[in-house]
Amino acid sequence: MPSHLSREELKKKRDKYIIPSVKQLYADAPNFVRGEKQFLYDEKGKEYLDMFAGIVTVSVGHCHPKVVARTVEQVKTLQHTSTSFMTEPMVELAEKLADITPGNLSKSFITNSGTEANEAAIKLARLASGRNEVIALEHSYHGESHLANALTGNHNYRPQLQPAAGIFFAANAYCYRCPFQKHPTSCHLECAKDVERVIQTQTSGKPAVMIAEPIQGVGGAITPPDEYFKEVKKILENYGVLFIADEVQTGFGRTGKHMFGISNWGVQPDFITMAKGLGNGFPIGAFITTPEIADANQRPQINTFGGNPVSAATASAVIDVIKEEKIMENAKAMGDYLFDGLNDLKKSFPFMADIRGKGLMVGIELADENKTPMVAETQKIVEAAKDDGVILGKGGLWGNVIRLKPPMIINKGDIDTTLKSMRKAMEGVAKVAVTK
Ligand SMILES: Cc1ncc(COP(=O)(O)O)c(C=O)c1O
Repeated sequence: MPSHLSREELKKKRDKYIIPSVKQLYADAPNFVRGEKQFLYDEKGKEYLDMFAGIVTVSVGHCHPKVVARTVEQVKTLQHTSTSFMTEPMVELAEKLADITPGNLSKSFITNSGTEANEAAIKLARLASGRNEVIALEHSYHGESHLANALTGNHNYRPQLQPAAGIFFAANAYCYRCPFQKHPTSCHLECAKDVERVIQTQTSGKPAVMIAEPIQGVGGAITPPDEYFKEVKKILENYGVLFIADEVQTGFGRTGKHMFGISNWGVQPDFITMAKGLGNGFPIGAFITTPEIADANQRPQINTFGGNPVSAATASAVIDVIKEEKIMENAKAMGDYLFDGLNDLKKSFPFMADIRGKGLMVGIELADENKTPMVAETQKIVEAAKDDGVILGKGGLWGNVIRLKPPMIINKGDIDTTLKSMRKAMEGVAKVAVTK
């Protein structure tokens, strides 16, 4: 094994050379030096089961050999031309995206990240509609640029933000903490109807577009009820508003039954934005839309690295693997197994207050009997599981949601390992929680 810096040495350098707002999940962070399948390895050779996939990104497993082979082949052949020149990998990828996305979505703009995909989609939606205002949801996360930050309904990611003009937030479909204090069985989808209230009271009545994650990722796997997006789409159509499904986390089979999360709600979006799982760790993003919407902008648009041969070839290989290895089917089967295990675990730990999500996009919100978010305890559990060799994710507005969004190749044994590790970690905090 090549020699690596100790984690202490690396941390020292990191603190010196990386800006402090780039936070680490762990107080005692390993120095990860290698990844293979669903596992990560630190500088000491210790193995970790990766149940977070580098923030929902390593879709088909770390360093998948077929994907790596395609990347390496392309790196050796042609690395770059820019969007101003025609190459096969970009067009091949765009064709594959048209093939796997629902309805008549068929024209893509390929970017380097999810942030850029959202930026570009909003720009085109504004041009196509001739309107300006945008609706987003509370608790959302849409990226790191000024516009994407301003679309993000979570103050943690908006420090001293001078908000971009013309963005309005509707309540999200957060059934566990319903913004309207209703119960899902009798709420009449008040949250969906909030979109109409926002259009009527906060906008000109003619917003350009609404952007929403089918399941809010950073927000903590917040999963709307079955009829939610149908109701929202009906309202948007009444007001001539376009709809962007931000599938940066929910895409590529992660929710188990459909290639893209929004299809679980039986709704056809005007745009899908994507990134993360598309590249399996290689930097790439994209939006796809209809020919009619795409045609609305005929001015030149450049993205120097967007759809470059290496990232495009890599993404094409990822899509091939997802199909060939029945990755989506595995996400469904393993998701079901995971939900059963989590519900079983909840019998011992009632502070697992809300278990939600679809497929392998899962969140467990930790709260006491008064619904007070258990923030410090969540961090303790995540840290203890890591010491035990299991990487859990964390999220939610208050940081009290454990996020399980692993590479979609995991098996039942991996889930058993995760549940065992969570049990052990939660036993450590259970006593405190009960006496709170
Ligand atoms: C739903 C969603 N949209 C957009 C983004 C931004 O993607 P990127 O970090 O690739 O810019 C993220 C990142 O976490 C995301 O979760």
